[in-house]
Amino acid sequence: MTRVLEARHMSNFHTPCCWWPLGHIRGWKGPSGFGAKSSWRDVVDDLAPTDVRKTIVVTGGSRGLGAETVRAFASVGATIVIGARDETHAKSFACELMSNTRAIVHVVELDLRSYESIVAFVRAVARLHLGDVNVLVNNAGVMPCAYDAARGQDPAWHVNFLGHFILTQKLLPHMARGARVCNVTSEVYRFSYDSRDLPLDDVDDPTKYDAVKSYGQSKLAIVLWTCHQARSPALVERDVSMMLVHPGSVETNGAAEARRQSGWRGAVLHCIGAPFVKSLECGAATTVYAALHPSATAYAAFGHRYFASCNPRETTKQARDRDLARRVTERAAEYLATLNAAHEH
Ligand SMILES: NC(=O)c1ccc[n+]([C@@H]2O[C@H](COP(=O)([O-])OP(=O)(O)OC[C@H]3O[C@@H](n4cnc5c(N)ncnc54)[C@H](OP(=O)(O)O)[C@@H]3O)[C@@H](O)[C@H]2O)c1
Repeated sequence: MTRVLEARHMSNFHTPCCWWPLGHIRGWKGPSGFGAKSSWRDVVDDLAPTDVRKTIVVTGGSRGLGAETVRAFASVGATIVIGARDETHAKSFACELMSNTRAIVHVVELDLRSYESIVAFVRAVARLHLGDVNVLVNNAGVMPCAYDAARGQDPAWHVNFLGHFILTQKLLPHMARGARVCNVTSEVYRFSYDSRDLPLDDVDDPTKYDAVKSYGQSKLAIVLWTCHQARSPALVERDVSMMLVHPGSVETNGAAEARRQSGWRGAVLHCIGAPFVKSLECGAATTVYAALHPSATAYAAFGHRYFASCNPRETTKQARDRDLARRVTERAAEYLATLNAAHEH
């Protein structure tokens, strides 16, 4: 049932809000055939051999959810490029995977705060001669954290959103026809600064900085950009699908640090969210589903590109605002154009 879904289920997809918490606790499965208690192993077991011969790039793929996602891709023998800041740690993880699976795992240094590092990363991936990239998983991210005073930047905006925006534009020419871009976001996108707009002119203003709202804003920007670029003729012509993934609440080092940074809000959310915490294997399932499962692209073709617990989920009115999406994407493209011009000289 999971592989063949009828078009009418996809085009008229709707789940009531109460489904999420109840579905999680009861382990209900959604129309995709998977649910909150499905692990990446369930997703992988449902794949045909033709779904898994892939070249996959994963940012932040050596720790936390990214590492678990890479573990899943390795289990099906994919060729993987891990983008990591800590190459030593990432290389020992890659060696472990290659000794236990038939996957080929490369490690290339990547710091998403740095334009130069992103450009060097894309060049290094091209030099590996792996053929066109089939899947890009933009997973790396800073969780709610302190303002980056040294750089004068909101870290979430620059790493989570702009870093991945730049990487995607640079890597797109190296991507295969029918490729997928899976952008890891978070339900926290619902808690940005403003319920109507984004403060695009002063994102780096330290006097207005709020760690949780900045994180929410960066994840909202990812949702808006993904939906906007997915509709662009260039991607539609090349049959490139852009998807969004909310992995769920998972106890990674990043999540624990975020809780410390979020003060009382982190403590309250931790208590409320405790029954809904997922294992790493279940947390990585939705990314693996979006990256490899045929029904994910079928949903995306109907415009359902935000996935949680391996099923499409409705987004907020603000996240569906096409004008805001256009402005966010245009602003990021202007920022990239400025950097391109500055580095040409
Ligand atoms: N865990 C959750 O409950 C949860 C919920 C919703 C969404 N998410 C999202 O899931 C993704 C993974 O989160 P996680 O829980 O696995 O967090 P994590 O354990 O903190 O891992 C984050 C990864 O991102 C990398 N990273 C951070 N800054 C980077 C930079 N400047 N350049 C390149 N890589 C960088 C880290 O690399 P280093 O090892 O070098 O620091 C690490 O590999 C994030 O996008 C997060 O927002 C997580």
